[in-house]
Amino acid sequence: MSADLASILRCPTCHGGMAEEAGGGFKCLGCGRSFPFTRGVSRFVDPENYADSFGFQWQKYSRTQLDDATKRDSEEDFLKKAGLTPEEVRGKLILDVGCGMGRYAEVATRWGARVVGIDLSAAAEVAARNLADRDFVALQADVFALPFAPESFDIIYSIGVLHHTPDCEQAVKVLPQYLKPGGILAVWLYSAYNKWYRFSDIYRKVTPRMSPRSLHAALRVAVPTFYNLGRGLSVLPLVGRPLAGFVHHLFPVNRNPNPQWRVLDTFDWYAPKYQSKHTYEQVFRWFESCGLEDLRVIETPIAVKGHKPATGARRQQPETVSMELRTP
Ligand SMILES: C[S@@+](CC[C@H](N)C(=O)[O-])C[C@H]1O[C@@H](n2cnc3c(N)ncnc32)[C@H](O)[C@@H]1O
Repeated sequence: MSADLASILRCPTCHGGMAEEAGGGFKCLGCGRSFPFTRGVSRFVDPENYADSFGFQWQKYSRTQLDDATKRDSEEDFLKKAGLTPEEVRGKLILDVGCGMGRYAEVATRWGARVVGIDLSAAAEVAARNLADRDFVALQADVFALPFAPESFDIIYSIGVLHHTPDCEQAVKVLPQYLKPGGILAVWLYSAYNKWYRFSDIYRKVTPRMSPRSLHAALRVAVPTFYNLGRGLSVLPLVGRPLAGFVHHLFPVNRNPNPQWRVLDTFDWYAPKYQSKHTYEQVFRWFESCGLEDLRVIETPIAVKGHKPATGARRQQPETVSMELRTP
């Protein structure tokens, strides 16, 4: 992997080639900028950025969502949100954009891929630790200033990330240039078709401004309270289920069977500074405007997968979205 990385790394500022320095960092051969290597990760971003809450959550819940001998939740999720199969990824060089603690890179490397994971937050350190024995390298980098040469990767996927940037459309549109001709882009974004989050949007006017520590402490009380209230109400005869649904609408918390997972996913919903929701029509237009083709809707909305033309040639822009879209 380090040989692959050395050949595709470019300075995110001037796009010059990079030379590895003693200690594992990199120096740009063009502008001379240095990129340090600390706690197992090369750093290509300012450590002060908007993704602090993610650094906090992935340091705290470093393995909760990682597959192991007893569970395969991330593998199932990867199939439903990226639509990538073991046959497609085996032997491929893949970029995981916003890798978090590395749950999906764990699946892809288990299936035989070589994966470069980038994340804006300190989560990159956690991914590097979790996948130390895999064909994997983690970099702290920003999707808007990626440190790679064009046409470096066979596959790029980004699951649950780009809607947490200040401009989701631009974040999607920067990615195809890093795909080799014939490469695959797969993204999963929050759905604008769900309506349950309306009340959470009200609470989100406050929650991203709280310190990650205080918000987490509040959710450690609120999540079990509303989860158990909902479950208690749901067993009442006749009115139970509608009442439980009403409480969930009013106070939305994650309902995963694993209590740690519930707090983690609820924190992941309420803490981020940026959060946008999207439709298939939008994402298809963005993919098409970048010349991607063979667009597919994958199982869990909003999940879209497309191919860069094998020749690298851009197709004529279609005027309308070419598929009939199903609103879930
Ligand atoms: C909800 S987490 C998802 C992590 C992982 N994909 C998963 O599903 O477990 C979103 C991740 O996107 C990262 N992120 C947000 N903005 C980013 C950016 N501009 N560049 C790279 N990563 C970013 C965050 O640091 C965070 O780890």
